[in-house]
Amino acid sequence: MTQDDPRKDYWNGQYLEYWRSRVAEAGAGTSDVVAGDPNTEGDEVYNRVFDRYGFEPGRLLEVGCAWGRMFPLYKARNLKITGLDISEAMIGAARESWEADDSIEGLVVSPAEELPFPDESFDNLACLAVLDATRQDEALTEFLRVVRPGGRLYVTGKNDLYHADDTEALAAEIGARKKNHPNFFTDTKELLEVMSRQGHTLVGQHYFERRGDFAAFHSIETPRLPFYEYLLVFERGESYARVPKISATHSKTFQNQ
Ligand SMILES: C[S@@+](CC[C@H](N)C(=O)[O-])C[C@H]1O[C@@H](n2cnc3c(N)ncnc32)[C@H](O)[C@@H]1O
Repeated sequence: MTQDDPRKDYWNGQYLEYWRSRVAEAGAGTSDVVAGDPNTEGDEVYNRVFDRYGFEPGRLLEVGCAWGRMFPLYKARNLKITGLDISEAMIGAARESWEADDSIEGLVVSPAEELPFPDESFDNLACLAVLDATRQDEALTEFLRVVRPGGRLYVTGKNDLYHADDTEALAAEIGARKKNHPNFFTDTKELLEVMSRQGHTLVGQHYFERRGDFAAFHSIETPRLPFYEYLLVFERGESYARVPKISATHSKTFQNQ
């Protein structure tokens, strides 16, 4: 990665304050920060998922950790945490709160697509509310490289086909593009097929039909199109290969309008 990665300006700019306000009002309900938009997911949603699927004992890498709002959840599960984010501003904020904490092994500025860690160095990886901002084929290939066989991966993302009448999802897609927010939509069926072909086990799957369903944890556990978001939990297989392109900058729903 070069220092002039054009994505950094966006994540180093006002995004930190924006995401702090969104997290502060997390939970079911309607946002005041983005008038009328559903609120984002709160800790109770993730606690529920982590309780259900668990972690491997040992080390966890959180990709796109921001200021470490999830760290207390990992700490409560006795994990040794490394946080990574593309944004110096986010990692700066994480250092202020967490640098001295015994559970923290590292706080690193780097993009998801180039993880500065040896192969198979983590027992777990979490990438929550971040994969949609990354070049997903490159990021997922890196995730599979740094997690050991048998290790656990939690990923969330946006599906490339959501309901045509999900006006909040459509408004969010259009709004993100206007702000130059990096935004990729996954061909989730293809993602599941690639992971299965490579021998990774799907441990948990949650699909959220409409924008806002994730925050309310209103989920379906079979991939029935259309849906807006997904949360997937995998166990890494014995080996991995490069992940092919599985995402696009525009959803099919937007293109079909
Ligand atoms: C929506 S926030 C989510 C933060 C955190 N996971 C949470 O749920 O609170 C997205 C985070 O991903 C980071 N990010 C965006 N693109 C990234 C990339 N390509 N590599 C690493 N981090 C990235 C941003 O800087 C930001 O902190």
